[in-house]
Amino acid sequence: MEQLSVNHLLGIKDLNDADIQLIFSTADQFKEVLNRPIKKVPSLRDITIANLFFENSTRTKLSFELAEKRLSADVINFSAAQSSVKKGETLLDTVNNILAMKVDIIVMRHPNPGSALFLSQNVNACIVNAGDGTHEHPTQALLDAYSIKEKLGDLRGRKIAIVGDILHSRVALSNIYALKKLGAEVKLCGPKSLIPKHIESLGVSLSTDLIKTLKWCDAVNMLRVQNERMDLNYFPSNREYAQLYGLNAKKLESLKKDIIILHPGPINRGVEITSDVADSKNAIILDQVENGVAIRMAVIYLLAAKLNISSK
Ligand code: CP
Repeated sequence: MEQLSVNHLLGIKDLNDADIQLIFSTADQFKEVLNRPIKKVPSLRDITIANLFFENSTRTKLSFELAEKRLSADVINFSAAQSSVKKGETLLDTVNNILAMKVDIIVMRHPNPGSALFLSQNVNACIVNAGDGTHEHPTQALLDAYSIKEKLGDLRGRKIAIVGDILHSRVALSNIYALKKLGAEVKLCGPKSLIPKHIESLGVSLSTDLIKTLKWCDAVNMLRVQNERMDLNYFPSNREYAQLYGLNAKKLESLKKDIIILHPGPINRGVEITSDVADSKNAIILDQVENGVAIRMAVIYLLAAKLNISSK
């Protein structure tokens, strides 16, 4: 069996091209399973996974849980808000107590960049990063790239734009790594205040002009404005942001071509994207969510195989 080059999924930065292709081809097989009447395989009957969420989540949390259950793993869920973290327990104490219950894989979302790496260096379990602060969100980037590939085919030479709040976005960084490794050209577009300094060093181009960017690209990923991470005013108002960087039907019609529209969710309707565009035929937002389950099944299955405890 082909194997991943990594023992944890901490970020796309650590993956090579073959890893990404292996995750995609494995996801293809699981997508086929998910479309059967019985959407479950016995592959991970003997492993236990803990989903630790120290930050809010709808898609990622449910998608991981469903992926794990479709693989027949035993699953436990932990939400910081209802836990002894509120009584002052440290991350390491919390995780070591969970691991004492014979857990094999930890899926963790945490507000601190680097928290998944920290865990991988300090506990004896396979770690999957489900989003660490403003750093990386690797499974989101994998499902985004997989969903674009499903529509456009090979991404080599394809032009992909990422628009909006790049500064606070773990989705943007993981997408840049994934798309570049797959051979796509990547352009970032947004207000200067929301584009990190020196990000061109990752091999992306920059623009502050949304219409020019949309005319250039084959697919655009409209990022959420992350108000909860903003301690300053990065733009004058949501109204001005929507005028300059929001995607609406009028701007799309002016392109005189079709482009694919992605959004990682949750959507601020009327800010980064209007409802008519989010719900239009060119938007693949729900395909992204559907593909997320197959991608996360693939990631968990391939990492479990490296633990030598998969029974498939
Ligand atoms: N895309 C994403 O990570 O969504 P959630 O925050 O709902 O998990």
